[in-house]
Amino acid sequence: MDAVFLFKDPTDDPKEGMMTTVPPSVLMVCLGNICRSPMAEGMLRHLAMQRSMTVRTDSAGTSNFHVGEAPDTRAVQCMAGHGIDIRDLRARQFVAGDLDRFDRVFVMDRSNLQHVRHLLGGREDGGKVSLIMDLLPGHPLREVPDPYYGGDQGFEQVYAMLDQACSILLDELR
Ligand code: 4NP
Repeated sequence: MDAVFLFKDPTDDPKEGMMTTVPPSVLMVCLGNICRSPMAEGMLRHLAMQRSMTVRTDSAGTSNFHVGEAPDTRAVQCMAGHGIDIRDLRARQFVAGDLDRFDRVFVMDRSNLQHVRHLLGGREDGGKVSLIMDLLPGHPLREVPDPYYGGDQGFEQVYAMLDQACSILLDELR
């Protein structure tokens, strides 16, 4: 589900005349699109809203396991515990055409990266696809751990990592 948050529309400003700006677009990708990537999408749109920034956000899974489903209850509860509502998000599968629709694609782990490359069917990604933890080169973990089979603590760990990564991303996009 695409979400565009237009908090500042330059066309509203008479000083800007007819100038329009295209907001940066970011797709978050994991395996199921019910835990990590909807948390990442929710985090990014929340932080963008806090900063009055306009970013087009979406998320997808490399699998079709949970297409159409809302995020995992534990992901929803974790985010709600930090004041972020992700109940509106619905899972979908990544498609090669996403590369045309987004400026940046962030995957959570190396296996997501392999799956995305497989789904691209040999098409070059033009440098658009990267591990989200590449935004945090100093962090000890290079991949966001899959919390699906673990307890609530795993979701809190994912939350903390995504909070840092999305903050850095917005610094870059500003
Ligand atoms: P996610 O977690 O990739 O962070 O959404 C998972 C969700 C579901 C499954 C695996 C990982 N699954 O196998 O159904």
